[in-house]
Amino acid sequence: MPQQAMPGRPAEPTKAPNLPTGQDGVDDTYVSRETPTREEDDPPLAMEAMRAVQILNPSGEVTMPRPERTRVMCVANQKGGVGKTTTTVNLAVALALHGNRVLVVDLDPQGNASTGLNVPHHTGVPDVYDCLINGLPLEDVAQPVEGIPSLWCVPATIDLAGAEIELVSVVARESRLARAITGYPGHFDYVLIDCPPSLGLLTVNALVAAEEVLIPIQCEYYALEGLNQLINNINLVRQHLNPRLEVSTILLTMYDRRTRLADAVEQDVRNHFGHKVLQAVIPRNVRVSEAPSYGQSVMTYDPGSRGATSYFEAAQEIAERGIKAEASRNA
Ligand SMILES: Nc1ncnc2c1ncn2[C@@H]1O[C@H](COP(=O)(O)OP(=O)(O)O)[C@@H](O)[C@H]1O
Ligand SMILES: [Mg+2]
Repeated sequence: MPQQAMPGRPAEPTKAPNLPTGQDGVDDTYVSRETPTREEDDPPLAMEAMRAVQILNPSGEVTMPRPERTRVMCVANQKGGVGKTTTTVNLAVALALHGNRVLVVDLDPQGNASTGLNVPHHTGVPDVYDCLINGLPLEDVAQPVEGIPSLWCVPATIDLAGAEIELVSVVARESRLARAITGYPGHFDYVLIDCPPSLGLLTVNALVAAEEVLIPIQCEYYALEGLNQLINNINLVRQHLNPRLEVSTILLTMYDRRTRLADAVEQDVRNHFGHKVLQAVIPRNVRVSEAPSYGQSVMTYDPGSRGATSYFEAAQEIAERGIKAEASRNA
């Protein structure tokens, strides 16, 4: 359980007056993110967040149960453009809007997750590079995401582009991120790490820091090609650096139901990965791709869109599966 607030944040969650309440006291909490400097620009975004919750979950019956301990999930696929960043951002917002405390770590020098969450990440902003290379504590670089209570982001600036090479000569180069995250315990229900499209040291750092890997797979012809390489890397990291690591979740993205191909890819992926594949599938949806240019997730940009409802379902499934896995571990 979180013991301490982020800098400038209240220590204990307070109830949001207008949010639907959850079932049992824990899930229905709302962390006030108000700070004096942001008060005047908070309301519109906060209103949008509340509207999103009401549209996605009108009866207030859906809860996304909080895990007993932090789930560190690495969103990885060395292919570019398969929906890693979109998935990271939208799952993070969906979970945060439903009572979870979430940290997004942007580990791609492109900084797309930072852009998508509208978190400043121009040169000079303390970022994940400072944590990896200079050993800066995570709490010094995490920024609150405007309008989304209990969501924070460690941004990536262009500095991170050099990290892949600079890390080579750094002590404990594979476990810098793991250290930064464990050095900052208890604050979050979820830490979602958005990986770059490569299998270099940045991705290795994410795999060492995480317990779970979430692989987004785009429903297109070459979907499974190259995945073996990712799985091999995951196995190597498990053998040598992080025995707890597992591929827990596969998410099908950019599904176009007008094509037979998408259906075939879905069958292939389900045959291959079985129960790891979420039932929820993310359709190709123009609202999803528009949202980042407004500095928003699709969850708040257009909560009624199929993109938003699908990510909402995916987040719910992830939360529930986590609770089931906990229960079987404790049994
Ligand atoms: N479900 C979707 N529907 C439509 N466009 C999408 C969807 N998911 C992602 N995109 C778009 O596809 C592009 C690549 O997605 P992105 O999440 O950046 O992939 P990655 O992080 O794996 O490189 C982006 O322009 C994004 O807006
Ligand atoms: Mg990306």
